[in-house]
Amino acid sequence: ALGDATPQRLAGKHVLVTAGPTHEPIDPVRYLANRSSGRQGFAIADALARLGAKVTLVSGPVSLPTPPGVERTDVETAQEMANAVAAALPADAAIMVAAVADWRVDAAGQKLKKANAPTSLALTENPDILAMLGKSPRRPALLVGFAAETEKVIEHATAKRAAKGADWIVANDVSGDVMGGDANSIHLVSADGVESWERLDKREVARRLADRIADAL
Ligand code: CTP
Ligand code: CA
Repeated sequence: ALGDATPQRLAGKHVLVTAGPTHEPIDPVRYLANRSSGRQGFAIADALARLGAKVTLVSGPVSLPTPPGVERTDVETAQEMANAVAAALPADAAIMVAAVADWRVDAAGQKLKKANAPTSLALTENPDILAMLGKSPRRPALLVGFAAETEKVIEHATAKRAAKGADWIVANDVSGDVMGGDANSIHLVSADGVESWERLDKREVARRLADRIADAL
């Protein structure tokens, strides 16, 4: 088969990937969310598995099929994602592609009624899963974060790399309509500096990134 010719550059390596949005419940029928489709993270999990890695994919709510050979854990909230990530360790690399909700709400036990609606929602900051891994004794040897930015893309990504203890930040310029779209404009920010890629299909971004990860491991 053609597949047999694929070099298994990541054989024996365990890579953890987070993908998709998280949903933070407001009451039993409503939630806070964001526009992440999960497609970039799923494409990365797929590309890593094709290189022979054992891939654990921790996914928020998305409507995407599980890539072949990938072990998937579905979660809803940021707190559940943090727990699933911790349970998946140790890993040789972690690629945090998920658009984790920055805040949660103290969810009501019953459906809120229009007649006595709250006038505001109190937001509590969620745990930063990437930053937690960055300072964990179980930190993967290669820790990669994503950063979707609409302005000052490289400046913000560079600051996030330092703040979160990541090796690389894959900065994604979302000033167009990228979230949910087919392509991404990527700047790879590492200790070596900034490498800007041409606008690429999400699957091609995933293949290139998987190759880089194989180089690094
Ligand atoms: N991230 C995470 N846990 C969070 C928030 C973010 O693991 N609670 C990870 C994301 O998966 C991504 C990276 O941190 O890999 C950057 O996410 P981003 O939302 O760009 O950074 P924030 O620190 O949340 O900053 P802001 O949203 O204010 O730009
Ligand atoms: Ca955020």
